[in-house]
Amino acid sequence: MDLGLKGKVALVTGGGQGVGRRICIELAAEGACVYVNDLFGERAEGVAEEIRSMGGEAYAAAADITDPEQVKRMVDAAAARSGAVDILVNNAGIIPERREKGGLTPYFTETTPNDWKKIIDLNVYGMMHCCSAVLPGMQKKKGGKIISIMSEAGRLGEARMAAYSGAKAAMLGFSKALAREHGRDRINVNVIALGAVSHEGIKSGPLSTAATPETDERLAKMLGVYPIARGLGRLCRPDDISGMVAFLASDRAAYITGQSIGISGGFAMI
Ligand SMILES: NC(=O)c1ccc[n+]([C@@H]2O[C@H](COP(=O)([O-])OP(=O)(O)OC[C@H]3O[C@@H](n4cnc5c(N)ncnc54)[C@H](O)[C@@H]3O)[C@@H](O)[C@H]2O)c1
Repeated sequence: MDLGLKGKVALVTGGGQGVGRRICIELAAEGACVYVNDLFGERAEGVAEEIRSMGGEAYAAAADITDPEQVKRMVDAAAARSGAVDILVNNAGIIPERREKGGLTPYFTETTPNDWKKIIDLNVYGMMHCCSAVLPGMQKKKGGKIISIMSEAGRLGEARMAAYSGAKAAMLGFSKALAREHGRDRINVNVIALGAVSHEGIKSGPLSTAATPETDERLAKMLGVYPIARGLGRLCRPDDISGMVAFLASDRAAYITGQSIGISGGFAMI
């Protein structure tokens, strides 16, 4: 299926590793010119270089998306070189540390305003800064796609992840409102909700790519939580997600907007 992304300009936040990296690679393989954003310039450059070595077009776009000035500079620089952004993927987000370290995150009553702020700054304000920076260009072009990566924690609520669940739920409400405001501009706004995802950026614990159900008791338990994981014998991987992002970024999904699509192996059937 040709998704028609050739010539489109895409910006992916947090594209330097994990889910974002794979999304960048997939969009580039579909012909988009990809701006790989990351807080860490060397990560962004590494992925941009990887894409170029595969024959795609990509540029590193280092910026801290919690800072609106840096976001505006990044989006303006991309527009000056390649034209206004057509596809924005809000991927950068904080994963509660429990996932990597295997320990338990604290209950809400044991956390502080500073803990909540970090999570909300990146997941909510980071997304808003990026949307605010790309929307005028999309309106002028009369078209655009915004896809944001949330978590099933935001649709269902997860104990010991109250601030994260709240922040991810905010992404959903915000995206639905934007979808209503910008339908007239032919801008589609959708959200993808993930369960646990294993990838190369996670170095230890059940989500690391080295973990197996035989060697990691927690992974064995987690596999029981996701209906399809019981059959596949594995957790979700970034390439289970990137195809849906590419589809939503295309006009094959022109009539889909304001939706949250779960890629979580049947964890939440809503
Ligand atoms: N991995 C999972 O199990 C899982 C589960 C549910 C949802 N998600 C969501 O999926 C998305 C991607 O997850 P991941 O596991 O690939 O994340 P990750 O932490 O492996 O990668 C995120 C990237 O974002 C970058 N980043 C962090 N702060 C930034 C900032 N201020 N500005 C720009 N870039 C910044 C990091 O440097 C990193 O390269 C996140 O939104 C996350 O909440 C992940």
